[in-house]
Amino acid sequence: MTATSRVPIDPFGADTAAESARLRALGPIVAITLPGGIPAWAPTRYDTLKALILDPRVSKDARRHWSLWPELDQNPDWAWILGWVGVVNMLTTYGPDHTRLRKLVAPSFTARRTEAMRGRVEAITADLLENLAEAGSPGATVDLKAGYAHPLPMRFICELLGVPEHLTEPAARMIATVFDTSDPSPEHGALVQEQMATVLPALVAYKTERPGDDMATELIRVRHEDGDRLSSEELLHTLLLIIGAGFETTVNLIGNAVVALLDQPGQLAAVRSGTIGWDAVVDETLRVHPSIASLPLRFAVSDLSIEGVTIPAGDAIITSYAASGLDPAHYGDDADAFDAARGADDHLAFGIGVHRCIGAPLARLEALTALPALFDRFPDLELAVKAAELRQVPSFIAGGWQEIPVRLGRRSGAQVPHSGRGPVHGPA
Ligand code: HEM
Repeated sequence: MTATSRVPIDPFGADTAAESARLRALGPIVAITLPGGIPAWAPTRYDTLKALILDPRVSKDARRHWSLWPELDQNPDWAWILGWVGVVNMLTTYGPDHTRLRKLVAPSFTARRTEAMRGRVEAITADLLENLAEAGSPGATVDLKAGYAHPLPMRFICELLGVPEHLTEPAARMIATVFDTSDPSPEHGALVQEQMATVLPALVAYKTERPGDDMATELIRVRHEDGDRLSSEELLHTLLLIIGAGFETTVNLIGNAVVALLDQPGQLAAVRSGTIGWDAVVDETLRVHPSIASLPLRFAVSDLSIEGVTIPAGDAIITSYAASGLDPAHYGDDADAFDAARGADDHLAFGIGVHRCIGAPLARLEALTALPALFDRFPDLELAVKAAELRQVPSFIAGGWQEIPVRLGRRSGAQVPHSGRGPVHGPA
């Protein structure tokens, strides 16, 4: 594959659906470049993505398995990717290292442990709805992302981890910088490193001095008692992963679902009448507009021949969840239409296999609390601009809107329903 025949993907991720269709037309696996010119392969179909993720010859460990790892230093425009593949946590490890790092955290996110979080999620939701109702007169335009979709997961994950208030904003800025792939300049790469080197050690220092009943304290305890289970680098980067994966993704799930329903009154009416369940709305949102559109990077451990294409050992691969969810070969000719009634819950938006999202039950709990509560409280909620005018966050990784201007309309005064919507799904 020559450098010129590679397809550069849009660093802004402005229209991942159209981009996915263009790439799919080129074949099941397409040679692309990421921002800064990093070469990689992109699977464009559901079955191809699934096969690659589940293939044991596909690694996530850049240090061991990326042929270009030794060259990263010589390419300043590639520094941005270090926020994704230069860190050491369960998301970037392979084999026994992955198992060890995942085991430290996974027990905190079982369905049972997540169910126990419901009360706090409902309380934060109720508080935010109250603030929204106080802030906006019925006709005024408010940003639903800033006032609701963003603070709910952010406040919850910070409580869970024990992030103190003075580090909350710096942590949110750090995650936004890591997700922003629109600027592959060396300065942006340096900013990512600087923010990580400031916020994460500050969090560890704070929690070491003031331990609490939280996940950061627990990880610090493991680090001190048994350094073989968690190195200091792994501790910092596991905290980064939980903060980043734990809120940015869920912010966008809530925001994307709200926009999809407000853009399609027929779907919203079907949800209100009970014809379509909220679970189905969440799944259809994840299929059509996944919070993680594509994720860098995986690596071929040995030459891989898939569907007539050979990915040489050492080459990088992205996982294209957005393309897989819109694949007509799997979801039919109307794959790109949002229709929660189709009941497609086999999407890959939470991943699959050993790296499957450990926070999926929590993300569902938050969305299934936030969405019905919002639409109950503001029955006339409407978008203040056309959906087509919304701007995507500047990232080929994150799938979500920069702002969601809405008019709240009349309020019902309803409380956050103590849902009784059934337990969250996931491992017991
Ligand atoms: C809508 C919300 C979410 C989406 C779409 C999402 C998506 C994903 C995806 C696609 C992966 C798999 C990565 C891979 O195979 O390489 C993943 C892994 C992960 N997610 Fe989520 N996630 C969400 C929410 C959360 C939440 C709330 C947490 C809570 C802490 C979380 C924590 C993680 C962690 C720790 C991993 C790494 C698992 C591993 O590599 O073994 N995620 N997520």
